[in-house]
Amino acid sequence: MIKIGVIFGGRSGEHEISLMSAASVINALDKTRFQPFFFGITKEGKWKYFEGNTSEIESGQWEKKGKMFNPGQLKEMVDFALPILHGPYGEDGTIQGLFEMIDIPYAGCGVLASSVAMDKAIAKDIFAKADLPICKHALTYTESFMSADKTVDEKLLAEEAEKIEQRVPYPMFVKPANMGSSVGITKAKDREDLYKALIEAAKYDRRIVIEEGIDCRELETGVIGNHAPQAAAVGEILPSAEFYDYKAKYFDGGQTKICVPADIPEDIKEQIRDIAVKAYMAIDCAGFARVDFFLEKKTNRIYINEINTIPGFTKFSMFSKLWEEAGIPYPQLIERIVDFGYERYHAKNNR
Ligand SMILES: Nc1ncnc2c1ncn2[C@@H]1O[C@H](COP(=O)(O)OP(=O)(O)O)[C@@H](O)[C@H]1O
Ligand SMILES: [Mg+2]
Repeated sequence: MIKIGVIFGGRSGEHEISLMSAASVINALDKTRFQPFFFGITKEGKWKYFEGNTSEIESGQWEKKGKMFNPGQLKEMVDFALPILHGPYGEDGTIQGLFEMIDIPYAGCGVLASSVAMDKAIAKDIFAKADLPICKHALTYTESFMSADKTVDEKLLAEEAEKIEQRVPYPMFVKPANMGSSVGITKAKDREDLYKALIEAAKYDRRIVIEEGIDCRELETGVIGNHAPQAAAVGEILPSAEFYDYKAKYFDGGQTKICVPADIPEDIKEQIRDIAVKAYMAIDCAGFARVDFFLEKKTNRIYINEINTIPGFTKFSMFSKLWEEAGIPYPQLIERIVDFGYERYHAKNNR
């Protein structure tokens, strides 16, 4: 029996989605092979060990019932760590660093791939180096137009906007480099919008990425594996809003549709799967990840948008559906991911 520590919640805007994913994963775990233990992280970053059921995880009850827990002691309680956390402090390499420090095998990407995937600017640099198609973009720093006390310098802001306009056409997507869930992202159609968008993004990160807005369909595929990763089916996101913003992701009452498999020509699917695997390898992913794309409507040109190293993971999430379509049902998918975690751990320790 493998004692598996499922870690959920976390200090991120995606705390609630993590609770849903974790509950779903725990329910699907093969209890003849795995004994699950629950570890919640509050929004303030406190760890709690919780003995209870999955509906109490989803409802948030775990937080009251759980006992304070020192994460350094994880290895004394479980054999394997399964982080089901999204965004900063979960998906960005920080918790993976903890697992490495305490020497416990864990699911998914290591420190490097996690932090690279979380940083939209660095990830693009590496994709470009691997000759993968990325959209036009620029990078700026909040310090270039804002002082330490958060006062905006209008003149510097205008100068910065001018530089950006020379590199990136409108409409632009302005994003904090390290976030997730579309938090802090604004579409800018003109100079005034751009000012506002930069100031908005500056609330969340020092570094801001500005991209050309692609008039596109949004396609995604799942990848699993370590040395010879495989891509799943390709699916499409049909957002309920102008773009897939925070509200459309979590509060649209089911109006955003996912379509698996995507209704696109086979050769485009093949290209997407091929780019997804290359991107996965380029940033040194392990275990699993979801790779997101834009397909430009007018030209059918494909752009890689981002890699999510811990994608939404409920039974009904895109990632699970894509693998189900490719022939791996949800419970088996989780099992494969645990096996890949062990494989990576042993490979690293047997050098
Ligand atoms: N360059 C772009 N062109 C068109 N739409 C974009 C672009 N960048 C982002 N979007 C829209 O914004 C959403 C969120 O952006 P994304 O970079 O995926 O951030 P997050 O990491 O928060 O998911 C995308 O799913 C898409 O709908
Ligand atoms: Mg995204």
